[in-house]
Amino acid sequence: MVKRVASLAVILFLASAVIYMSIPAKVRAVSGDAAAAGLEVHKKHCLKCHGPEGKGDGPAGKLLKTKPADWSDKAKLSKISDDELFKIILKGGEAAGKSKLMPAFEEKLSEQDIHNVIAFIRSLQK
Ligand code: HEC
Repeated sequence: MVKRVASLAVILFLASAVIYMSIPAKVRAVSGDAAAAGLEVHKKHCLKCHGPEGKGDGPAGKLLKTKPADWSDKAKLSKISDDELFKIILKGGEAAGKSKLMPAFEEKLSEQDIHNVIAFIRSLQK
């Protein structure tokens, strides 16, 4: 019994290590408190469509007709102000004249969460 519990603990440890390692090092290494908090929001709410590195290649994002933009594309993202990003995330794509496949998060995220996830998005544009 003790042995079984011990091996279960080892399996759980390995599984969480694998999940952790599957997040690219570049993304794990984001600096700054806001961006780090934003990474947590991203993993929970955005990654499935926007992809681990925000390249628009999440498991669900790949299936969408309108692909999310590559957040590391500085030329593209620098044309969108923080206010516009805020609006897209708060009210969804449709309200911002974009695809309605981008959901609104006003019910799910606080303003602070949105500011943090914007800091995370900006941290990807090097
Ligand atoms: C159900 C899939 C889905 C989820 C979940 C999702 N998005 Fe999107 N998002 C999209 C799609 C599709 C677009 C592209 C809209 C367009 O170009 O018309 C988009 C566009 C955006 C844009 C505009 C720039 C770009 O990437 O095209 C921002 C910013 C954005 N999303 C932020 C977020 C954030 C932050 C979250 C999590 C809080 C999130 N999205 C969650 C699908 C999603």
